[in-house]
Amino acid sequence: MESKEKTPNHDLSPMRCPVNLDDVDLFSPGAQEHWYEAYDILHRESPVHRIPGEGSTPEHDGFILTKYDDISMVVKDPVRFPPGMSGAIDDMLAQGKKPEEMPHVNAMMASIMTLRPSIELWRSHRQELTDPWVGPGAGRHEEMIKQAANDLIDNWIDKGEVEFISEFARPLPQMVMANVLGLPYSDIPRLAEWGNAQVMAFVYGKGHRNELTEEQLVEQFKLLDGFKEYVHEKVQEKRANPADDMISFLCDVKYEALDRKLTDMEINGVVYAMLIGGLETTQYALEEQAQLLCERDGIFAEVQADRKKLRHFTEEAMRLRSPTQGLSTRLTSQDEVFQGVKVPKGSILHLRWAAANIDEEEFECPHQLQLDRKAVSRHLTFSAGPRVCPGAGISRLEQITAWNCLLDRIDSLAYAPGNTFEHQPGIMLGTLKLHLKFDKAK
Ligand code: HEM
Repeated sequence: MESKEKTPNHDLSPMRCPVNLDDVDLFSPGAQEHWYEAYDILHRESPVHRIPGEGSTPEHDGFILTKYDDISMVVKDPVRFPPGMSGAIDDMLAQGKKPEEMPHVNAMMASIMTLRPSIELWRSHRQELTDPWVGPGAGRHEEMIKQAANDLIDNWIDKGEVEFISEFARPLPQMVMANVLGLPYSDIPRLAEWGNAQVMAFVYGKGHRNELTEEQLVEQFKLLDGFKEYVHEKVQEKRANPADDMISFLCDVKYEALDRKLTDMEINGVVYAMLIGGLETTQYALEEQAQLLCERDGIFAEVQADRKKLRHFTEEAMRLRSPTQGLSTRLTSQDEVFQGVKVPKGSILHLRWAAANIDEEEFECPHQLQLDRKAVSRHLTFSAGPRVCPGAGISRLEQITAWNCLLDRIDSLAYAPGNTFEHQPGIMLGTLKLHLKFDKAK
């Protein structure tokens, strides 16, 4: 099949493609079209890049870290590099404030204050409450994911063409999370709207901290208005008629770390976390994987012939095109030096996972997709250490299962006409549309 061409999308950006360090700007509108060019410049010239006045106070600075070793060390040491919100949470707890009394504290933040204010409790929260459903225990969902993927493929398999995002990559994680939580498919449009409101900061937020304006925050809370009542209703339903789903489990489970059950508000916080993390991220992974299969010679045939290689393929794809490109989530609790650059106490660290994942000091030929790369899952796409993404298990399973189903049913994949490859704004790497053509398997 022809059409391996990918139109260069630099022209779609109001920003010009960086050629030297002065041009590098990862956060202004249109930066998405040039991220990977910028990472090469940062690695060469400024692997620890200062953002003046953007630290924990106006007197402090922000620093973009792009080296694998630096980020890996930071995420594994929560004492030297505490999460940005931990200070605020400690202050609120010290003042005896209740989460529901605080302005602009969403359900997830509120539940963090009561269920996991310390790193030990953060770990227990993952192990006891989310691991059985979206972490190592996600294997229980394999058949359900297969069914959901095949149902979606049925809708377009006879057409020879598909807009892959709206007809597969977006709805699949939505169906999976609805199933995991025990919510009906008919509620997906509402869940998707709430999910969009929750991730507003990561799409429309300004600068490296993804800050929303006061008006946007008000708008966000308005959009989330019905969410609390909705989860409350579902919790009542599940308490009356428990089923084999995550919300029923959360209603009943004794949280051993605190020796008690969860309140309705805490369940709301966990459900909030599952939606904010679980809806969009995997969409971007699937969509970039489809692009890599169109672009990289021989990979489609190789993974189709040997499905064991799908694990390597999905890991390499997440390394090369990290869905969450970077987050400003850690502080320095003491003076530090990274790559010879002094980073004072009180600085905010912007961890650029996507750049670390193509660091040539860690990954040989970093821009190549190698199906035989050693220790293929050591990339930092899901972060690492005690605060590692709790949904990595289900996301990985979704990706492998999705491609297994797709490869059973198509014999080729290529770009169809009409793609601009324009990326959505914000911190996630995702194109807005992706038109593909394929041959149905014989
Ligand atoms: C390819 C898909 C995904 C990527 C790239 C991704 C990436 C990340 C990253 C980088 C973090 C920050 C960790 C840190 O600060 O050290 C994170 C946190 C988080 N992720 Fe994911 N994630 C993905 C899928 C999911 C899924 C499917 C879920 C839910 C089922 C999820 C739920 C969360 C939550 C709730 C957090 C916040 C931390 C916590 O509450 O423990 N993620 N994720």
